[in-house]
Amino acid sequence: MEPPSGPASRRHVPWSRLLLAVSLLTFWTPPTTAQLTIEMVPPLAAEGLDVLLLGHNVTKNTLGYAWHRGERVDNVQLIASYRVDTNATTNGPEYSGRETLYANGTLLIQNVTQRETGPYTLLVTKNNLQTEIQTGRLHVHPVLPTPVITSNNSNPREHEDTVVLTCGSETQNTSYMWWINSQSLPKGTRLELSKDKRTLTVVTVTRNDTGPYVCEARNPVSVSRSDPFTLDVLSPVAKPSLQASNATVTEHEGPVVLTCLADETGVSIRWFFKGQSLLLAERMTLSSDNSTLTIDPVSRENTGDYQCEAFNRGNSSRSDPLRLHVTWRETSRALSVGAITGIVIGVLLVLILLAVVGRLIFLHRGNWPPASTSGRGPSGSSVS
Ligand SMILES: *[C@@H]1O[C@H](CO)[C@@H](O)[C@H](O)[C@H]1NC(C)=O
Ligand SMILES: *[C@@H]1O[C@H](CO)[C@@H](O)[C@H](O)[C@H]1NC(C)=O
Ligand SMILES: *[C@@H]1O[C@H](CO)[C@@H](O)[C@H](O)[C@H]1NC(C)=O
Ligand SMILES: *[C@@H]1O[C@H](CO)[C@@H](O)[C@H](O)[C@H]1NC(C)=O
Ligand SMILES: *[C@@H]1O[C@H](CO)[C@@H](O)[C@H](O)[C@H]1NC(C)=O
Ligand SMILES: *[C@@H]1O[C@H](CO)[C@@H](O)[C@H](O)[C@H]1NC(C)=O
Ligand SMILES: *[C@@H]1O[C@H](CO)[C@@H](O)[C@H](O)[C@H]1NC(C)=O
Ligand SMILES: *[C@@H]1O[C@H](CO)[C@@H](O)[C@H](O)[C@H]1NC(C)=O
Ligand SMILES: *[C@@H]1O[C@H](CO)[C@@H](O)[C@H](O)[C@H]1NC(C)=O
Ligand SMILES: *[C@@H]1O[C@H](CO)[C@@H](O)[C@H](O)[C@H]1NC(C)=O
Repeated sequence: MEPPSGPASRRHVPWSRLLLAVSLLTFWTPPTTAQLTIEMVPPLAAEGLDVLLLGHNVTKNTLGYAWHRGERVDNVQLIASYRVDTNATTNGPEYSGRETLYANGTLLIQNVTQRETGPYTLLVTKNNLQTEIQTGRLHVHPVLPTPVITSNNSNPREHEDTVVLTCGSETQNTSYMWWINSQSLPKGTRLELSKDKRTLTVVTVTRNDTGPYVCEARNPVSVSRSDPFTLDVLSPVAKPSLQASNATVTEHEGPVVLTCLADETGVSIRWFFKGQSLLLAERMTLSSDNSTLTIDPVSRENTGDYQCEAFNRGNSSRSDPLRLHVTWRETSRALSVGAITGIVIGVLLVLILLAVVGRLIFLHRGNWPPASTSGRGPSGSSVS
């Protein structure tokens, strides 16, 4: 049997097989004084970055190094081996193209993936053909993306619905934190965190639970905080009240301002006139939040019942009707014209009557008494 250490046989036996044979032969060799150790730099690798697998206390007089995946020296799992005397690197079945094996036994893995998490075993073959083996463990963690808070109910109703908020998608080795209104979660029974704290349950929401909510996901290599999330609590909408600057006004005399008082935030306002959706005429303007309606100048067509309605996506409530009464002066002007006409006609009639009566009096004075005059005429002629 040939001694395996013979320089002649080493030239003929393939290097990797020799290393394996040597390792099998010397597996039980007691450890040398300086213990071979493996260090991962950085100790917690982030996916996509580079990581060094350092071999420490590697003896000066080495023939070569071989890195394997797994916890054993197994040629099927060889990544790469390096032979000191020729500076030759041999890649193994587990070589991905991203590994570099340096002359000092250090292995560089670039753009490391989560799949590469696991044990790595370094085999060091010394000049005396004794070997040292050490295994180290690589942890590759994903760099967490910005988590997005999702709710299982986008329109929860106040005092009715329970909402579950979830921080991002599920990832291993991730811890979570939550804030409401930039404060840590208040103590109370209505807020429940899941065991991993990824989900926050808000039991029977109230408008005070609107938020904003922020969550943070943290793993060994990254910390990532969500954008603020606001819970849109739909409260039953309270009935708004409607007020007018003046409910009885005269046409063309200044503006009328109708104000809708809705004692809630988060509601929108719309207007109704005579029960129909109000069509904005030229003389009408709404404030930017639609809560005040200004009619300037007011005219008689604006007479009628006004209502405002407060609403959100789930509920709405309409005010009592408010009656706006617009009076106008043309009524009195029309009367006076009629009166003047009446007076003129009356005066004319009186004048005509007087003229007729005067004429009658004049005629009657001339032949007075009418009966004797007619009888005297013929007799008069008989006298002369
Ligand atoms: C090298 O080996 C010695 C002895 O076993 C040990 O004390 C020392 O920590 C080792 N150095 C490194 C960097 O691992
Ligand atoms: C191996 O590399 C070292 C330094 O990089 C060099 O000095 C030596 O000559 C090289 N040996 C061979 C056989 O190429
Ligand atoms: C080995 O060499 C590499 C590349 O020069 C270096 O980054 C690494 O720190 C060295 N390893 C040791 C254990 O010194
Ligand atoms: C790293 O690997 C990923 C796939 O695993 C690839 O998409 C990316 O381009 C690589 N980045 C670099 C810098 O090589
Ligand atoms: C959201 O989850 C809570 C708790 O599981 C449940 O009570 C509620 O019905 C869910 N809401 C919807 C809209 O699914
Ligand atoms: C990551 O989580 C897995 C199981 O979920 C666990 O076995 C492992 O030890 C964790 N890694 C770290 C670095 O915490
Ligand atoms: C909301 O908070 C205010 C002030 O803290 C409190 O007065 C009110 O009762 C709360 N409303 C509900 C429905 O919890
Ligand atoms: C309302 O308008 C009428 C007519 O323009 C005016 O006479 C009255 O004084 C106003 N009332 C108030 C309270 O301003
Ligand atoms: C006001 O009402 C108009 C329709 O009349 C609507 O388009 C607009 O969005 C409303 N504005 C607000 C702030 O609610
Ligand atoms: C608004 O909510 C109240 C209380 O939940 C309900 O009685 C009413 O019918 C709702 N109105 C509309 C228009 O949905």
